[in-house]
Amino acid sequence: MSRLDSFIRRVRAQRACLNHAAELIKDMPGPLLELGLGNGRTYDHLRELMPQRDIYVFDRQLAAHADCIPPREFLILGDGRKTLRTMWGKIPHAAALAHVDIGTGDVRENQRLAAELMRLIAPLMRQNSVVVGDPSIDLPGWHPLPLPTGVRKGRYHIYRLSLGPSRARPAASPPPERHPFQSPCVSEIARAGLKAGDVPPSTVLADIDPPSLC
Ligand SMILES: C[S@@+](CC[C@H](N)C(=O)[O-])C[C@H]1O[C@@H](n2cnc3c(N)ncnc32)[C@H](O)[C@@H]1O
Repeated sequence: MSRLDSFIRRVRAQRACLNHAAELIKDMPGPLLELGLGNGRTYDHLRELMPQRDIYVFDRQLAAHADCIPPREFLILGDGRKTLRTMWGKIPHAAALAHVDIGTGDVRENQRLAAELMRLIAPLMRQNSVVVGDPSIDLPGWHPLPLPTGVRKGRYHIYRLSLGPSRARPAASPPPERHPFQSPCVSEIARAGLKAGDVPPSTVLADIDPPSLC
């Protein structure tokens, strides 16, 4: 299969799973989490599907299409392994759905990162909430759900979370007392088409490593 065919199948699976997940949570209150803004395709789809929901969006950097940049209070930039923890005290056990599409081209690294991130989103998720994503994950309380028609097994994944109190919050690392968001760096602001004064220091870029990203 060509890379083009493979890409088309992946995004079709992604769309079908997100549409299906929206149905699954239609009677459940709570915001959405989008892990991996990228160029904003799936974020745009989620906000079109569920315009009434708040969507908290996470990415290491801002590289989305100008039309797909979330409102600043919902955009949390920085390494997800750090920024997700900062939300535990803000929206504990609130989210109805998380879409996890974080990663690079390295399959093994993606698997490792996803396992780490999925543990960190658990404290943000409601009981019986839904997580859609790639790659697969094998964690206690995460029950794989059937995929919508037309999506081949293993191409994308949907889980229902059944989180006991002891599983819902990782043992160590309570939420930090001080909000760790830092000021955005200049090139990030420029890429977002904003001026420095448009971006309050407490909203966006968290824990960015300036030498690698700016
Ligand atoms: C496949 S892209 C997301 C595509 C996006 N869902 C879309 O439809 O346009 C993966 C994203 O994960 C982000 N990412 C990778 N590692 C990350 C990390 N440790 N923390 C936060 N974001 C990360 C990358 O910056 C990239 O934008």
